[in-house]
Amino acid sequence: MLLHNTTACLILLAAAKRFEMEHQPIYSNQGGHYGISNPGYVPTAGGAPAMFAPPVADSQGPSAPPASMFDSMPGYEGTVAGGGGFLPPPMPAVPTPQPQPGPEQPHWNIPSISEDTARDAFVLFASSKCCYSSAPAKDGVITDMEAFNTYRYRLETFTESRSTEWSHEPYSGQTVDAYAQPPPGPWDIPAQAPNFFLNGKKTIKVPYTSSVKSCHSCVGMGRQPCKDCAGAGNKVCWVCNGSGYRHGDDRCHHCSGRGRENCSRCHGQGSKQCDVCRGKQQLLVYINLTVKWTNNSDDYVVEQSSGLRVDNLSKVSGKELFRDSQYMVYPVMGFPDPSVVNAAQRLINDHQARFSQTSRILQQRQTIELIPVTKVTYTWKGNSHLYFVYGNEFKVNADNYPATCCCTIL
Ligand SMILES: *[C@@H]1O[C@H](CO)[C@@H](O)[C@H](O)[C@H]1NC(C)=O
Ligand SMILES: *[C@@H]1O[C@H](CO)[C@@H](O)[C@H](O)[C@H]1NC(C)=O
Ligand SMILES: *[C@@H]1O[C@H](CO)[C@@H](O)[C@H](O)[C@H]1NC(C)=O
Ligand SMILES: *[C@@H]1O[C@H](CO)[C@@H](O)[C@H](O)[C@H]1NC(C)=O
Ligand SMILES: *[C@@H]1O[C@H](CO)[C@@H](O)[C@H](O)[C@H]1NC(C)=O
Ligand SMILES: [Zn+2]
Ligand SMILES: [Zn+2]
Ligand SMILES: [Zn+2]
Repeated sequence: MLLHNTTACLILLAAAKRFEMEHQPIYSNQGGHYGISNPGYVPTAGGAPAMFAPPVADSQGPSAPPASMFDSMPGYEGTVAGGGGFLPPPMPAVPTPQPQPGPEQPHWNIPSISEDTARDAFVLFASSKCCYSSAPAKDGVITDMEAFNTYRYRLETFTESRSTEWSHEPYSGQTVDAYAQPPPGPWDIPAQAPNFFLNGKKTIKVPYTSSVKSCHSCVGMGRQPCKDCAGAGNKVCWVCNGSGYRHGDDRCHHCSGRGRENCSRCHGQGSKQCDVCRGKQQLLVYINLTVKWTNNSDDYVVEQSSGLRVDNLSKVSGKELFRDSQYMVYPVMGFPDPSVVNAAQRLINDHQARFSQTSRILQQRQTIELIPVTKVTYTWKGNSHLYFVYGNEFKVNADNYPATCCCTIL
């Protein structure tokens, strides 16, 4: 119950903060429901012109299309074939979090596990290891159980990034629309993330950039000389090395004595269909926009003194105490453990710095979990040993299990 009150308190605080922010046009969700997807970022009108990565040198070999094949498109001047350059989004006004007084220090309900739960988990652990005897787990006498419960703070920032590149495909009557009107800016093209907090990618042909060009690879012929036979259609017989004879006077059967054989790659034709235009002689040249959605996640786990390392806790889940999801979250305030508050502040600043320049933040989510950790001391055959039971899953860690076949004669 106390737990709920505190969560409610944190939510109220966030809601109050949020109410202030609703004067800014960026915020479109008026409902104030947390943990529910809201529309996130709402694009501002009239995107700024995009910046581009410098064009890369011609490193794509002879079949790379020449730059002259790409028309200059307003708003896409720096786009190159091969792509790669990200496009920084036009910057919306970024709300600056204001420090807020935290609520009263609450009392947290610390769950504890029973001896039976600890023993059952331990027996299960021992039986899952093929060379462990289950005797210590079954017959050991528990002498002490100590709770070292800890918190995990997690910040997820869901971002969208965009890049453009010149592309081409064989022309077979697709719509040609270059210059019909200026193309929309790279950040003005609508693309809906399929799911918040799930990675995804989408490629979109930029409207009003498609034109038809003669194929650069075959110079509009639709066919290319065969590389294997240099266009001859045949080559020296590999069996007789062109002599037509084997072992002195025996006629070569492979080439019937001709000394040459048909090129298998072009079936004796000397040329083959152009790979680039697939024989169509013409290419549709256009700009492709790649939209990428990324779930960026960082954790902070409060160090505890049980002896169980923090990275062992990454594999288990805990009890969720707090969840807050919105366009941009504010650092949690008034949480009883100040290191969690500090970590929230630090990670939120860090994500802001890392992601807001190169991508658009669509949604953030912060959660706090309570991870149960119990250190169990037990005696077996007169010696004291210990193990840990941790996480909602009751995962067991026993580094010095006393009866493994490699170190104990049973
Ligand atoms: C987001 O990513 C983190 C790790 O990168 C992952 O643990 C988390 O489950 C992801 N969220 C979703 C909803 O997939
Ligand atoms: C460009 O985008 C379209 C989808 O709109 C896709 O079918 C095509 O393969 C993309 N071209 C390249 C070179 O990635
Ligand atoms: C063909 O030439 C290769 C090396 O040039 C040689 O090893 C091979 O023995 C020759 N074969 C015949 C049948 O002369
Ligand atoms: C070699 O290629 C020519 C021309 O395509 C063809 O007429 C001839 O039948 C081929 N010969 C063999 C042995 O495949
Ligand atoms: C934690 O995990 C590592 C390997 O993931 C393991 O070697 C170590 O013994 C574990 N236990 C403790 C108490 O850190
Ligand atoms: Zn031959
Ligand atoms: Zn050939
Ligand atoms: Zn071609």
